[in-house]
Amino acid sequence: MADLNDNNPIDTDKAAKEELVPSKLDQVDLSQKSVLSFLTCGSVDDGKSTLIGRLLYDSHLVAEDQLASLKKDSKAHGTQHGEIDLALLVDGLQAEREQGITIDVAYRYFSTLKRKFIVADTPGHEQYTRNMATGASTCDIAVILVDARKGIITQTKRHSCIVSMLGIKTVVLAINKMDLVEYGEDKFNSIVADYIEFADKLDIEQIHPIPISALNGENVTTQSDKMSWYEGPALLAFLEECEVPNTSVNSPLRYPVQWVNRPDLNFRGFSGTLAGGELSVGDDIVVLPSGKEASIKQVVTQDGELKTAIAGQSVTITLSDEIDISRGDVIAHKTDRPEIAQQIEASLIWMSEDDLQIGRAYQLKAGHQTVIATVSRVDHKIDVNTLNKEDADQLSTNDVGVCELQLSRPIVFDAYEKNTETGNFILVDRLTNATLAAGLIKGADRRADNVHWQHMTVDKATRARQKGQKPCCLWFTGLSGSGKSTIANMLENKLHLGGQHTYLLDGDNVRHGLNRDLSFSDDDRTENIRRVAEAAKLMVDAGLIVMVSFISPFKADRRLARSLFDDDEFIEIFVDTPLDVCEQRDIKGLYAKARAGEIKNFTGIDSAYEEPEAAEIVLKGAEQPVEDLVDEVVSILRGEHII
Ligand code: ADX
Repeated sequence: MADLNDNNPIDTDKAAKEELVPSKLDQVDLSQKSVLSFLTCGSVDDGKSTLIGRLLYDSHLVAEDQLASLKKDSKAHGTQHGEIDLALLVDGLQAEREQGITIDVAYRYFSTLKRKFIVADTPGHEQYTRNMATGASTCDIAVILVDARKGIITQTKRHSCIVSMLGIKTVVLAINKMDLVEYGEDKFNSIVADYIEFADKLDIEQIHPIPISALNGENVTTQSDKMSWYEGPALLAFLEECEVPNTSVNSPLRYPVQWVNRPDLNFRGFSGTLAGGELSVGDDIVVLPSGKEASIKQVVTQDGELKTAIAGQSVTITLSDEIDISRGDVIAHKTDRPEIAQQIEASLIWMSEDDLQIGRAYQLKAGHQTVIATVSRVDHKIDVNTLNKEDADQLSTNDVGVCELQLSRPIVFDAYEKNTETGNFILVDRLTNATLAAGLIKGADRRADNVHWQHMTVDKATRARQKGQKPCCLWFTGLSGSGKSTIANMLENKLHLGGQHTYLLDGDNVRHGLNRDLSFSDDDRTENIRRVAEAAKLMVDAGLIVMVSFISPFKADRRLARSLFDDDEFIEIFVDTPLDVCEQRDIKGLYAKARAGEIKNFTGIDSAYEEPEAAEIVLKGAEQPVEDLVDEVVSILRGEHII
């Protein structure tokens, strides 16, 4: 095969899309035979594709027409001098064939009389470790290929290290190309000894070495008579007989909500794939992070209703009570809940060509949850050759390290060792959407536990007393041009003249400084609101009456802002001015630009505004003069003894 060119294009996005993989289980009939999913890893030249091709070919799983085109392709693209090239059966994509490499994780299915198999085939070059990490988290065992001529190389060690981190406990060490070392027993034994010595420090429970020649079909599907010194099973026999761990079904219920299914007003269901355990009609559940409780009313599938669903199944459920649930929420049994934290510790497998940057905002995708994450510290990295921990303050391509991450809001998760699906995430570049790293969560950041709130002598109450006022946050929300800032400005002036101590945080202004790195994407707006809410909280703590005038279009973000304050400290003021009025006013000329397509993600045009349902004050911005609206606010605040 051709050497890899480092500049080959890689669809890093595909790794991210593999989040949907567990649902592929649906394509396999789980009811009859057991299913083994295995990962194959090895270097480009180790013969991995040939091996999988051989498994399919010798199991008579290649259809006649496929065989005919395989023969033709072998002549055109093959590496076997016109002879049938089984690797081509696997390197299915035309682009791959032309480059002579496999470039992505591909899932293949085959079955024998005894068992069904899902093969996660991942490419071999070091650079492509990214795909391996995302492909492996759903696998039961790993088949690590070694070239008998080369023995254990750095690549083998790196793959083994990642396989072990991913929690795979059983490794088949397939020592390939035995034909090129005269099927020699000594060679085999010395490679096995090297590997066992290396793997001693890894968390791999079982190593099964098998000498093979994928090219000649020795010890692949049938026992080889060229290596009579080997008494173990051929590879396929081993794969058919080995035990399949079934941890996800025995683990606690985890049901990450993929989408809210609302075909009409009479039905409100929540769809997703069970990532652990089982759920049954009547079960008492809790929705996290909100903590709302309900019980399961129905479990619906395409083929009708079920009493019980198990891990791996995609279903839609309905609940006994109407509670607020959105995409990314996780449903669990009340008695066995996942963790929730905003600071986490995780192992990162860094895949990007660009180094990790401490403090830089990345997008973190964990199941259906998306948050902004910054790495606040690299604790150490692992030397894959010695498996020793090394001090490090950043990570480069292919590095594996343990880091602390700070998230824009809490996520719901399990430690990876408890549940591989709810315990993994990827980090994505917010501009290019490229996958930068795979992450395995260790747990809530212990250090965060060690940061304790310090109670100061001068506190909010003493500061408020000195100012003779009750500090609070008046949160203005509404469309651009609704009049928020004009009203807030006039209100502040009035309060100021009345001797109150105030501050006005305005969206446009804060975006010039504290938030100047943020765009108008959904995620950046979330971060925009989180930061200004935290700033407002500090100002309330300083004893001020703070006005916040931000579009703040999303309910969840306003909910987060509210959650930072005491109940009577947060007053949401919805400036309810219809879109057409805002657009007619168009004081900044931005609506015209948005309509012309010059500004993207403009609220009300191509980005949503979710109206508040329970704002403390609603001002009809189009119906009254600003002075009257301000007077209305003042009189409500007086009536509530806020001022
Ligand atoms: S928010 O949605 O993240 O809360 P914010 O209040 O900070 O928005 O900023 C809104 C101001 O930025 C608007 O008043 C407008 O002047 C300007 N702006 C520029 N681009 C956009 C956009 N795409 N959507 C909304 N406002 C925008």
